Amino acid sequence: MNFDFTETQLMIRDTARQFAQDELAKSAGERDEKEEFPHEAVKKLGELGFMGMMVSEKYQGAGLDTVSYVLAMEEISKVDASCGVIMSVNNSLVCYGLEAYGTEEQKQKYLTPLATGKFLGAFALSEPEAGSDATNQQTTAVRDGDYYILNGTKNFITNGASADIILVMASTDKSAGAHGVSTFIVEKTTPGLTVAKKEKKLGIRSSDTVSLAFQDCKVSVANRIGDEGFGFKFAMKTLDGGRIGIASQALGIAMGSLDASIKYSKERKAFAHYLSEFQATQFKIADMATRIEAAQMLTLKSASLKDANQPYSKYAAMAKLYASKVAVDAALECIQIHGGYGYIKEYQVERFLRDAKITEIYEGTSEVQRIVIARELLK
Ligand code: CAA
Repeated sequence: MNFDFTETQLMIRDTARQFAQDELAKSAGERDEKEEFPHEAVKKLGELGFMGMMVSEKYQGAGLDTVSYVLAMEEISKVDASCGVIMSVNNSLVCYGLEAYGTEEQKQKYLTPLATGKFLGAFALSEPEAGSDATNQQTTAVRDGDYYILNGTKNFITNGASADIILVMASTDKSAGAHGVSTFIVEKTTPGLTVAKKEKKLGIRSSDTVSLAFQDCKVSVANRIGDEGFGFKFAMKTLDGGRIGIASQALGIAMGSLDASIKYSKERKAFAHYLSEFQATQFKIADMATRIEAAQMLTLKSASLKDANQPYSKYAAMAKLYASKVAVDAALECIQIHGGYGYIKEYQVERFLRDAKITEIYEGTSEVQRIVIARELLK
């Protein structure tokens, strides 16, 4: 067992760390406040190869491994978790899904611009009545010659307003349940597709989350990913990798909380001592660091299994389940260490808590992760 990172992995981590400091740190708080999408930063992330990190060089991706992706996601999310989720959806759900299951024509047309940051992608599975119960797809895609006609509503779609390309799951055969769902690549400009509502959120406020309405939206058969009926499996397989991305985002938030806690505890005095001199603070910091280390091991293990083409679904679920809890707990402790200053916006540590909470919800709630883990253990 080797715990060393390669030189490339370390270089990616350092590049992401520098980028986060130079391009995100100053603006993250204000963008969060104003709910502003980081268009410029996302463009620059694309130029760096961070929007298609695991896409092969054939499609102008960075051709990196999942471990490098984890390290980059941590560094970006440490400073700006909104940017983290934008990056994660594009990398794990859209680029991965297309490269793994798309046709050569689809990859040439869509994957290259997505991997280079010219296009941004979104993944539309959730619906008003299909969150955790994802097979309950009400959006329909009815075949009409060389086209499908899509009707329905998708909600809580990350990147939905800013995306150029959306991977949409829709029912092509209601009677077949999970086996009657298909996936389509839908260009944002397709007539009949509209952004219906932008959500106002507790956290990750600088990312956009919208509902999308499809009304007689005509999509070419050539834009279907895989066979008719493959859509639910496509979504599940793609989300397995997505959960590694969200675990890394959660880790980044937890690491940011730990860094801020250490810094503040060495600066702030109470009762004539630095907070760092009190055991009450030391124990919090020790617990945070230990849990972060454990969550990182789980996340890196799932990433390594994915890189080795071995089954990783259970480990990705474990990583997300655990890392998201670690993020919420670390953010809470960080606020506690900061006392009243943690509760006000000026110190920006309250953002960690608001951003951390969603990691227990999207890409499968913690309850769904437990279902995935338990099914694997009990089968
Ligand atoms: N890989 C391959 N196939 C899988 C799979 C996987 N990981 N998980 C399930 N399947 C297959 C099953 O084997 C089954 O196929 P067969 O009938 O051929 O055996 C089929 O899919 C249906 O699966 P289930 O019977 O397990 O379906 P279920 O209704 O019991 O649901 C669930 C299982 C795990 C709860 C699933 O619905 C789920 O993961 N729900 C959560 C959805 C989710 O994560 N949504 C996130 C939205 S995207 C997002 O959040 C992005 C963002 O904005 C950041």
